[in-house]
Amino acid sequence: MEIIKNASLKALNTFGVNASTQYYAEIHNLDDIQALLEWKAQHDLPVLLLGGGSNLLFKNNFDGLVAKICLAGKERIEEDDNFTYVSAAGGENWHKFVRWTISQGYAGLENLSLIPGTVGAAPIQNIGAYGVELADHFHSLQAVNLENGDVLEFDKAHCQFAYRDSFFKRYGLDKLLITSVTFALPRHPQWKIDYAGVRDALEGKQPNAERISNAIIKLRQHKLPDPEVIGNAGSFFKNPILSPEKWQALREKYPELPGYQQADGRIKTSAAWLIHHCGLKGYRKGDAGVSEKHALVLVNYGNATGKELCSISQEIIAAISDKYEIFLEPEPRIVV
Ligand code: EPU
Repeated sequence: MEIIKNASLKALNTFGVNASTQYYAEIHNLDDIQALLEWKAQHDLPVLLLGGGSNLLFKNNFDGLVAKICLAGKERIEEDDNFTYVSAAGGENWHKFVRWTISQGYAGLENLSLIPGTVGAAPIQNIGAYGVELADHFHSLQAVNLENGDVLEFDKAHCQFAYRDSFFKRYGLDKLLITSVTFALPRHPQWKIDYAGVRDALEGKQPNAERISNAIIKLRQHKLPDPEVIGNAGSFFKNPILSPEKWQALREKYPELPGYQQADGRIKTSAAWLIHHCGLKGYRKGDAGVSEKHALVLVNYGNATGKELCSISQEIIAAISDKYEIFLEPEPRIVV
């Protein structure tokens, strides 16, 4: 494991924030994981595990070691009557993995096309889009406990998946290094094309995994700013989940407010709608702003600092709280 001192993080976070880290290393194999365990034992400094850098915001420079997970490899493991089991290493690019499953004739992950990030990071926030979330097709994962080197296996129940949430967030980030994830992909898939826009994007063609994936790619490219062009980390806030009473009260005042019934009786509403109807879509302060394309996405127009992006997020939280008495929660990890 090669350790680089005073490394720039600018190219390693999709916000393009110009932060730096005291130490930087890449984890390519088991020997590197062993070296990381040793480094941790010898240094009283924090370690940050980095995937694609697409769901985090560096508010400051990092005083510790940033370890980028570059573990590679993917394979079909086995098949039974209902599922094909496919596994990928934690450092694999999520979208490339999704397209690989489709090219092999496997379905299930097509609605999750073009989500930035890595396979290993995907379970941590239970990535989701267009009516599907990772938990729907998850089978198990392997992780190394960086506190004692133990190799652990987590099945679905252990992961405690919820909306943009999992056991791993609650246990504490950077304590478990996810080395590989296994998916159970249905051999008789039920296509999910009812989410707004998906059916139209299929342009009347019979759905299959590849066509749905292409439709999702088109939708995302149309609706979301491309992090290659303008720095961002996707949705910056979670969609708030409201009690039925709170929802009723808001709906009377704002009849257009979108709402999605949850299994537990609560209603998930749209943070993008709230921000948009607060007049903040396209709001900009220096190089930090709210995307003109999508109100839920904060963007870096060039040289915004992590602090400036945090400050704009605080302004949004305050405006939404004042107008609707709803407290928005940031979705990406904010590294302070
Ligand atoms: N809307 C506005 N203004 C906007 C954009 C959207 O008012 O500028 C309203 C519209 O009424 C729309 C509703 O918000 O119907 C929902 O918008 P959208 O379908 O884009 O979904 P979202 O709830 O804003 C979530 C995920 C996205 C995911 C999409 C599609 C979260 C936090 N975000 O966004 O995930 O791609 O659904 O399924 O749940 C991400 O996590 O980074 C991400 C992009």
